[in-house]
Amino acid sequence: MSLLSRAILLCTLWLLPAQPLMALDIDTAREKELETLLYQDCGSCHGMTLKGGLGPALTRERMNTYPRDGLARLILQGISGTAMPGWEGLLSEQDARWLADHLQNDNPLAR
Ligand code: HEC
Repeated sequence: MSLLSRAILLCTLWLLPAQPLMALDIDTAREKELETLLYQDCGSCHGMTLKGGLGPALTRERMNTYPRDGLARLILQGISGTAMPGWEGLLSEQDARWLADHLQNDNPLAR
């Protein structure tokens, strides 16, 4: 993402009304999209069942070593210096929180 679009994104985030911190009000259609994204897009590196590939396995055990909002931030920002991209351009904070929650609680991969 260019510096300009990142700056624009930051401004937009700044102008959004404050969201309740713990809210996970994602509608069912978006949940389906996010689930598809998780197993296909994230899966392209982390494995279709998230057991690992280019990226490490995203097990429930490992995901619960992060606080949920910290995991959401990691998904949005990526891990600099590695192949893990940031998803800020594609995902809202709500989306990232939903994914983090899903990885911590509903991911079939226990460890
Ligand atoms: C282009 C490949 C690629 C894609 C696509 C990708 N990742 Fe990653 N991811 C990586 C790599 C490589 C790492 C390990 C980085 C490191 O060395 O710390 C990583 C690390 C992570 C970690 C930290 C793992 C740990 O053990 O601490 C999480 C969580 C994560 N990715 C989630 C996601 C999610 C969620 C998506 C989809 C929204 C995604 N990744 C998409 C390559 C990718």
